[in-house]
Amino acid sequence: MDPINVFDLEAIARERIPKEAWDYYASGAEDEVTLRQNRAAFERLSIAYRVMVDVSRRDTATSVLGHPVAMPVITAPTAFHRLACPDGELATARAAGAAGTIMILSTLSNTPVEDVVAAASGPVWFQLYIYKDRKASEGVVRRAEAAGCQALVLTVDAPLLGRRERDIRNRFRLPLGLAVANMLPEGYGEVPPAAADSGLAAYFATLLDPALTWGDVAWLRSITHLPVLVKGIVRPDDALRAAEAGAAGIVVSNHGGRQLDTSPATIDVLPEIADALSAHGHRVELLMDGGVRRGTDVLKALALGARAVLVGRPILWGLGADGEAGAAQVLRMLHDEFDLAMALAGATTVAEITRDLVWRARA
Ligand code: GLV
Repeated sequence: MDPINVFDLEAIARERIPKEAWDYYASGAEDEVTLRQNRAAFERLSIAYRVMVDVSRRDTATSVLGHPVAMPVITAPTAFHRLACPDGELATARAAGAAGTIMILSTLSNTPVEDVVAAASGPVWFQLYIYKDRKASEGVVRRAEAAGCQALVLTVDAPLLGRRERDIRNRFRLPLGLAVANMLPEGYGEVPPAAADSGLAAYFATLLDPALTWGDVAWLRSITHLPVLVKGIVRPDDALRAAEAGAAGIVVSNHGGRQLDTSPATIDVLPEIADALSAHGHRVELLMDGGVRRGTDVLKALALGARAVLVGRPILWGLGADGEAGAAQVLRMLHDEFDLAMALAGATTVAEITRDLVWRARA
């Protein structure tokens, strides 16, 4: 059967991706409550559509941090795309460019940033993990800049890796021949097996800096001319701190349910974060991720204050199902579903996706 939605591609990818890699992509932390809640929270929201609006012409385009995009969907930073298909991040970059959108490349990529930017036809942003070895982190920032990345996305919800029990059981490690390519020159390219743990959890505990504070956003800004987005926020006060620290954007995210289990669903906290930022007059770009699987999810996120959403696992499903073509198909499906959702909700432009479209029962 031909896949007609991203869940069909998930089913195909699951058959094709080796179990250990599948578990790594799919897993959330501990009981995976947040992983499920990210989805469930979207499903709980209803769209109170408008009728009798001329929707014969619609425009899904917008801009994110000044970059024109064909739709308010960009690719989330996810690690190790060569676990899904041989072209790995190159396939993702080409698919994102073909869809007219932005790719966020993970620090933990199997392909060096230079090669990814060279393959991309759209903007590439670089997701940054800060290592204890600040010189190494500075080195990778320099390379991302020199390669032509147009923003840095600092992940702030991972001082240590969340406890993903499937990975612990599998003793997750990178297969022979795959590396954290961006960190190879710094000597941190390997993710070897750990005795009784996920190899990646051990990698984080050994190498990444768990001492980061808001002052480190200032440090990062002092070493780069690129705009810095802060990813991994679920509280209005942290969103305000990020804005005060000079972030150009904020990604409301719980890391796809992979870090602190039982943290709130991102779509639930998005509106209060949007309100806090506007009440304080901060004009930072507000993005969100977590559980976006349908065009209606994109519409709900925009209605509740996001400029755009990031999609993570669905891209990996596309890569696993059919490489670059599969990732492109995922982005096409989301585009087409979003376009239809706009038509049926009575919105012809993204600016017309306003909060009243999300219906809430009176308390
Ligand atoms: C890496 O960032 C992961 O969540 O596994």
